[in-house]
Amino acid sequence: MGKRKQLRLGAMLHGVGSSTSLWRHPDIQADASTNFKLYREWTRKAEEGRFDLVFVADGLYINEKSIPHFLDRFEPITILSALAAASERIGLVGTLSTSYSEPFTVARQFGSLDKISGGRAGWNIVTSPLEGSALNFGPKRHPQHDERYRIAKEHLDVVRGLWDSWEDDAFPRDKERGIYFDRSRLHELNHEGEFFSVKGPLNISRSPQGHPVLFQAGASEVGRDYAAREADAIFAGHDTLEEAAAFYADVKRRAASFGRNPDDLLVFPGIGPIVGSTEEEAERKYRETAELVSAEDALLYLGRFFEHHDFSQYELDAPFPDLGELGQNSFRSTTDRIKATAREQGLTLREAALQVATPRTPFIGTPEQVADRVQAWFEADAADGFMIGASVPRALEDFIDHVVPILQARGLFRHEYEADTLRGNLGLPVPETRYAAARRAEVRTNAGAAVDARTPAEA
Ligand SMILES: Cc1cc2nc3c(=O)[nH]c(=O)nc-3n(C[C@H](O)[C@H](O)[C@H](O)COP(=O)(O)O)c2cc1C
Repeated sequence: MGKRKQLRLGAMLHGVGSSTSLWRHPDIQADASTNFKLYREWTRKAEEGRFDLVFVADGLYINEKSIPHFLDRFEPITILSALAAASERIGLVGTLSTSYSEPFTVARQFGSLDKISGGRAGWNIVTSPLEGSALNFGPKRHPQHDERYRIAKEHLDVVRGLWDSWEDDAFPRDKERGIYFDRSRLHELNHEGEFFSVKGPLNISRSPQGHPVLFQAGASEVGRDYAAREADAIFAGHDTLEEAAAFYADVKRRAASFGRNPDDLLVFPGIGPIVGSTEEEAERKYRETAELVSAEDALLYLGRFFEHHDFSQYELDAPFPDLGELGQNSFRSTTDRIKATAREQGLTLREAALQVATPRTPFIGTPEQVADRVQAWFEADAADGFMIGASVPRALEDFIDHVVPILQARGLFRHEYEADTLRGNLGLPVPETRYAAARRAEVRTNAGAAVDARTPAEA
C-alpha cells in the first residue's frame, strides 16, 4: 500500500485581517499590518506547528475605501526576506503581479529569496484585478482580463528562462586555476516576445529549488487553464465543500489534459477557521467579529471586487442589483460567484454584502469539529491543503495549538518536516535546467544509437 497522503498547511500573514473592522476588536493589535515582531511571532508559531509555508497576499492600488490592512502593509519580498532570517524550515510565499513587474527583477528577487532562505521561496502569481493599479505604474493602461493572462504566460516563460541561466555546476570558483565560472554552463535567454524583450543571463546563480514554488490565484476559465498548465499550487477561495470539490476535480483534469501529473498541482483553499473550547464559544467569537461590520462597511468591502463600485446608490433591502458586465475585468471569478449566489439565494443587497464581508465559515466549532471538517474536505478531494487565515483574534494560534495535534494524531499531518526545501515538504519535483535536460536527452539518444550499432553477437 502506498504512503498515506498528507495534508499541507499554509498560514496567511495578513496584519489586522481581511475584514473592514477586525482591527477594532480589543484583542487585535491595531498596528499589526506593519508590525514586524508580530509577523515574526506568527511565522515562528506556524513553524512550530510544522506548517508548510507562510503566505503574503498583496495589491497595488488603494484608495480611501480600501480595508485597513490594505492601507498600510509590507511589500511581500521585503517582509519574507526578513522572515527568512527569523525562521529555519518554513516556506515563504509572496504575491507579485505579472501585470506590473519586470520578469528580470522578479526572477532575481525570488532567486535571492530562495538562496537567503535555503530553498524555501514561493511566488504567488497574480494578474492584478484593479484598474487603478495602472495609475501607479504610469504611463500605462490596465490590460484586459484575458490579456493579463497572456502577459502572465510570457512573463513566467521569461522568469523560468532566467532561472535556467546558470546550471547547477556553473560556478567551480577554483582559486588555483583561476576559474570562477564555467562558460559552458552559462546561458543567455535572448527572449524577444509580444510583451517582453530580455537578453539575460540572470545575475544570480541557480537557487536551491531551481525554480521557487509557483502558486497562482485566479479562478476564471482562463485562470484555471493558466494554473493547470503552469503552477505547482493554487490558492483558491470556496465557501462549500461541493464548490471546492468541483473546482479541485476541474483543475486536476485540466492539468492531466496538459500532460501533467495532477498530483504535481496542489490545491489550497483559503479558510478562516474559528475554534472554541465549546461550540458556543466559537459562535460567540464569530458573532463578536461579525457585529463589528456595519452595513456601510460591508458595501465598501463588496464594492472593491467590482472596481470599487459605489453600492450605496442602491436600496439596501431591495434585491441585489443587476450589475451587467461589471466585475468582468477585475476579480472576474469572484464577482461571477457573488452575482450567482445572490441570484440563486434571492438575496437583498444588504444580505449579499454581509455574506461577502462577514462569511460564516463552515470551519467553526470545537477543535474536533474543525478537524473533522478539515479531514472531510481533504478526503473528499476538495483540497490538498489549506491556507489558514485569521478571521478572529488568535485564529492561527488556536488552530495550531488545538486542531493540528488532532490532525497529527489521525495521521493526516506531519510531526516533523520531511525536507529542507519547500518543494521537498510539498512533495513537488525539483525542475532541472532545460540545458541539463537537453544534454541528458542527447546522451540517451547517443546511447540508444550505440546499442543499435552493436552486432547481434555483442547484443
Ligand atoms: C483566492 C484568490 C486570491 C487572490 N489573491 C490576490 C492577491 O493577493 N493579490 C492580487 O493582486 N490579486 C489576487 N487575486 C486576484 C487574481 O490574481 C486575479 O487578478 C483575479 O482573480 C481575476 O482573475 P480570475 O477571474 O481568473 O479569478 C486573488 C484571486 C483569488 C481567487
